[in-house]
Amino acid sequence: MLAVPLMSLLLGTGARVSAARSASLVRNDHARAQGGDTAFAPEVVALGAKIFQGKAAGGLCFSCHGANAKGMKGLGSNLTDATWLHGDGSYAFIVSTVEKGIQKPKEGATPMPPKGGAPLTGDQIRAVAAYVYSLQQPARRPRSDRAGR
Ligand code: HEC
Repeated sequence: MLAVPLMSLLLGTGARVSAARSASLVRNDHARAQGGDTAFAPEVVALGAKIFQGKAAGGLCFSCHGANAKGMKGLGSNLTDATWLHGDGSYAFIVSTVEKGIQKPKEGATPMPPKGGAPLTGDQIRAVAAYVYSLQQPARRPRSDRAGR
């Protein structure tokens, strides 16, 4: 029973949290984001990065948006800049875009399938959305963090 926490302790990396723990972190952060707090836990962002890059959950985002999310001409747009083609760049927008995909791209030639064409669960969608959202930090920090800019 101690094996999993002990192993993550020994391996010493935040990314190696157990599946149950990461699911509860994702849900907790999702609930907080709905209340406007979009400071996601590093473990959630790390899980989202793995999904994005195809290293977890069979995620395919990288194949159109590039492993660095900077976009690939004609395939998927840049997700790291301040320009959003289909919405306001909020966490809620990103979650719903990943759920539904994009049938009519503005720059790309091919649509984005729902979930990017991978069998992602709700929690995996939330984690990958938290990762995409976090790529724009500090530009997308909550309003209170932006005071004085
Ligand atoms: C088959 C290619 C493909 C895959 C796979 C894919 N996307 Fe996309 N994505 C697109 C295209 C095309 C667009 C729209 C770009 C345009 O309008 O020119 C897009 C748009 C988006 C947008 C909105 C960008 C904006 O500017 O409004 C987000 C967010 C996004 N993708 C995230 C993801 C995530 C996260 C994944 C993985 C779960 C993913 N995509 C997988 C092709 C893809």
